[in-house]
Amino acid sequence: MTPSLSPHRIWNFSAGPSTMPLPVLMQLRGDLIDLDGTGIGILEHSHRQPTYDRVLADAIESCRILGEVPDEFEILFVSGGATNQFGLIPMNLLADGATADYPDTEVWSAKAIVEGREAVPTGTIAVPFEGKKFRYDHVPAQGEMTPTQGAAYLHYCSNNTVHGTRFHTPPVAAPGVPLVCDASSEIFGRPMDWSKHAMVYAASQKHLGVAAMSLVIARRDLINSPVRSLPSMLSYAAHAKYESRINTPPTFAIHTAGLMFRWMIQEGGTREFEKRNDAKAALIYSIIDGSGGFYRGLSRVECRSSINLSFRLQTEALDTMFADEATRVELDGLAGHRDAGGIRASMYNAMPIEGAQALASFMRDFMRRHG
Ligand SMILES: Cc1ncc(COP(=O)(O)O)c(C=O)c1O
Repeated sequence: MTPSLSPHRIWNFSAGPSTMPLPVLMQLRGDLIDLDGTGIGILEHSHRQPTYDRVLADAIESCRILGEVPDEFEILFVSGGATNQFGLIPMNLLADGATADYPDTEVWSAKAIVEGREAVPTGTIAVPFEGKKFRYDHVPAQGEMTPTQGAAYLHYCSNNTVHGTRFHTPPVAAPGVPLVCDASSEIFGRPMDWSKHAMVYAASQKHLGVAAMSLVIARRDLINSPVRSLPSMLSYAAHAKYESRINTPPTFAIHTAGLMFRWMIQEGGTREFEKRNDAKAALIYSIIDGSGGFYRGLSRVECRSSINLSFRLQTEALDTMFADEATRVELDGLAGHRDAGGIRASMYNAMPIEGAQALASFMRDFMRRHG
């Protein structure tokens, strides 16, 4: 295997694992061989030595700067993806006999409900909004759901990766009820309002690099008093106490996340990414909206996502043809999720506007040939 110095890259619209910025990949390539001039690569460094102390401290600090995360929030790297958090959250926060609210806004929040019920059968997971009835075409508007008074917390998914909807503003929980947010597909794609959240978490394979790890940002008072005794790997309090290294941590994934945070800071931070993501999305939505029904969005206009854009053509055969032809012109990963079908373009922070322009021009061309 001989690595190429000028790699051939194509546009990758995959929902995750997903495209990464080339400067970060190039840095990682070097760090695999020799990290910080130590003569030892990142995969080989002990997690109890100063070089890794530096990696971890940098990742935490840059995450705090990028996300403008207030001091009262702990920043944790927890092995296992977001699905792992679906179980850990109720284990840590939902006491026997207590209720938590889980609006169901698509596949991932539905999975969080199922996993949560498995994890804590002695608690209640209430579903104040059942998006499935509307084919998940929108998230609840103000007043469309009735949150449970006195709930332990309200869990929601801020950006719905499969159906391409998002909450423009966080849902309103009952007074005093903490908000827990699955931000897997939009973390740092726009600023986060920390005053409204007690915990935000994200799988790493979309905005942060390596799959099978989660970033968990949680208010210390929420996680430091878990509602039951738990084995250490399942306890956020233990992850916090041992600074994300109870055991051998996913060092490569944490280093990669650290580089991604730095890259996002250098590129201008969350406000800049919000602008870029809105601009990319506007390009594609303008084609959908102006196509006279040739392309049809899966979600209602008022809550469509700027990051995961889901749409259909008139027939499944055309959907398949679209995705296949796109792949042939180096636009990859556009087939929709197996639960939603159609087409999905995932344009995370690492996707530049040129990728959206390439997709837009393919969409115009495809419509001209098949419309
Ligand atoms: C919003 C959301 N939550 C959770 C998950 C599950 O993440 P993981 O595969 O890391 O468990 C995904 C994966 O795509 C997702 O998009």
